[in-house]
Amino acid sequence: MKTIIVSNRLPVKITEANGEMEFRQSEGGLATGLGSIYRQGNNMWLGWPGIEVTSTEHQDKITEKLYKMNLYPVYLTQDEINLYYEGFSNETLWPVFHYHPTYARYEQSYWDSYAEVNNKFKEAIFKIAEPGDKIWIHDYQLLLLPGLIRAEHPDITIGFFLHIPFPSYELFRLIPWRAEILENMLGADLLGFHTFDDVRHFISSVTRILPVHSSANEITYNNRQVMAEPFPMGIDNKKFESLTTTNEVLINIANLRESFQNVKMILSIDRLDYSKGILQRLQAFDMLLQKNPEYIEKVALYMIVVPSRDTVQQYKDLRDEIDKLVGNINSRCRTLNWIPVHYYYRSFPVEMLSALYSMAEVCLISPMRDGMNLVSKEYVASRTNNTGVLILSEMAGAAKELIDALIVNPNNIGEVYRAVIQALNMRPDEQQRRMQAMREVVAKFNVKHWVKIYMDRLEEVKRLQQSMLAKHAGPEMQTYIENEYSQAARRIIFLDYDGTLVGFKTNIEMAFPDEDLYDILNMLTLDPANHIVIVSGRKYQTLEDWFGRMPIDIIAEHGAWQKHSNGEWIKLPGLYNQWKQEIMPILETFVDRTPGSFIEEKSYSLVWHFRKVEDGLGELRANELMSTLRFVITDKGLQMLPGSKVIEIKNAEVNKGKVALSWLESNDYDYIMALGDDHTDEDMFKVMPASAFTIKIGSNISAAHFFLRDFREVRGLLRSLALVNKV
Ligand code: UDP
Ligand code: G6P
Repeated sequence: MKTIIVSNRLPVKITEANGEMEFRQSEGGLATGLGSIYRQGNNMWLGWPGIEVTSTEHQDKITEKLYKMNLYPVYLTQDEINLYYEGFSNETLWPVFHYHPTYARYEQSYWDSYAEVNNKFKEAIFKIAEPGDKIWIHDYQLLLLPGLIRAEHPDITIGFFLHIPFPSYELFRLIPWRAEILENMLGADLLGFHTFDDVRHFISSVTRILPVHSSANEITYNNRQVMAEPFPMGIDNKKFESLTTTNEVLINIANLRESFQNVKMILSIDRLDYSKGILQRLQAFDMLLQKNPEYIEKVALYMIVVPSRDTVQQYKDLRDEIDKLVGNINSRCRTLNWIPVHYYYRSFPVEMLSALYSMAEVCLISPMRDGMNLVSKEYVASRTNNTGVLILSEMAGAAKELIDALIVNPNNIGEVYRAVIQALNMRPDEQQRRMQAMREVVAKFNVKHWVKIYMDRLEEVKRLQQSMLAKHAGPEMQTYIENEYSQAARRIIFLDYDGTLVGFKTNIEMAFPDEDLYDILNMLTLDPANHIVIVSGRKYQTLEDWFGRMPIDIIAEHGAWQKHSNGEWIKLPGLYNQWKQEIMPILETFVDRTPGSFIEEKSYSLVWHFRKVEDGLGELRANELMSTLRFVITDKGLQMLPGSKVIEIKNAEVNKGKVALSWLESNDYDYIMALGDDHTDEDMFKVMPASAFTIKIGSNISAAHFFLRDFREVRGLLRSLALVNKV
């Protein structure tokens, strides 16, 4: 059993020297973090080698070499690079996910190619995957891959991690292929994001765009439990600490010192990207020199911009603008001995980065949006003497952890400028306090920790799915239930109504029993050994209309009213309803403020329904209503019950469990079964004897022993029971 890591790019640098290809594993954060996994045993990393190779002979040679490094290539054609990589990945997804919707292009040809290349990755995985393998997929270029794999291998373990932000629903919904994207992401078992906000945004998009149910961070999709959770990615902090004392780095530091005598260094390192806020950062630095000329010849901005995606128009344009602005500042402000902006449009080896991290009094990182931003963590890890100041944009994922940085809004040029002044003048003891706290965070949540907690959680999710499967009253369990049923002489079956015998309808009046349901109930009641009890929260008048003429017992309004099949409706003694006068006006204000909500009045309870209310708003108001009522209902002997899109207020004595118990006491049953879908049914499950078949509808946590997925499965089970003794 092996783990296969999949990402758009392989962690390898391929260079050509003397006509020979040279392969070096890259030291990037992801490659380092996952190095401990993919180099082990027969594990593999699969991805694009980053170069165009057309001849198959050449491809085979490269494949062979890579294979020895546990790498497996997926070659892209020039068309695919244009449409899938530069196109859909970087001109559609990247801008939308980084809150630049005006840069996004929604081209059908981009999408088609994206789907085809994701499929190509799938085929490549299938060439090397064996039963029992785990697949861990990375980033936005491969959002469809989890679903494509799942469709062919329903039980395989798939992890997915998104390294960029997941945007708010308002942005995500702009993408024409939004539903397909989400459906395929949900092919994974565990979806990892850098921050909790990303998780929130993802879950809100999923529940608004797809007909799925979520409970906290668990999403039930195609009968599988999928988890979405934050795992903030870390770095190899030890590597950055120890680099600072290597010879090469010390030499680099000495050289830098030569040119930075009496000049404080403000360091900025990014890939060329409009999400990085490079222009705004230059403007803030310019402002510093304009407004505070005393810093002239005293500070310099050391700015590295690593070339990236420079065939995409916006990146080309940005590069030109940076060139212009840097030129402008330098030509206006430079002196004979000093240059304000040291600008490099290239990448540097890590030994040079380490020297810069060690040298820079201030590290200025101000992206407009960034999934995490590893440079900020690398700077912190490299400050082994705990000095230096990090200025960090609140829009970077890292800002959630590095709270002791000077946190700024990158759009607020004035604030960034003031933060630079504060950083340049920060007292050493404050620098120490802040840096030490940040170094502890970076050390604890390092990249090994990230990999470990992600992989542990992936296993846990798989176990959870299996335990849910075990509890599912599937065919095997149903045979057992049927056997027990056939041998019993006195049976009692408690049936909740909404969500158990019928599906949910937006209009509660429309959820009436259909012919199929009557047919099943009739068959069950024909057997004299059966005692059927409907236990519902509905009004007794409604239940009387629907089931009054059948040989069925009915418990209505959660137990406030009850009727034996041959008897009259009886009210639970001691109930009173004067409290309604006080509660009703409160509910009415919530109805006035919440379009789509309404009140249902029962004889001894009031119900506030929000099933027709806009998603999210209903839950918000429900919480608000419960906090308001919490104080009002004390000393009144009332209880408040949150159900499926309802809040019900009723007398404390009314409880499905209590009344079901009184039914059980009246006879000596040798087969007891109870089915229900919501909160109020849990009371019933709890009072049932251990030998009872308690079945929850829906796969949430429950006191029931088994679950069925929906009312259709319930009807299937009931029908097969009704037919048992006929066979
Ligand atoms: N980096 C590098 N050489 C450079 C500049 C940066 O190897 O010349 C590395 C840097 O050490 C960091 C990564 O590139 O690990 C950038 O990661 P980050 O999360 O900050 O930004 P991204 O490029 O992923 O948006
Ligand atoms: C970001 C993305 C990565 C990507 C990297 C470099 O960090 O999250 O998936 O590999 O940028 O971008 P590139 O387009 O050069 O692969």
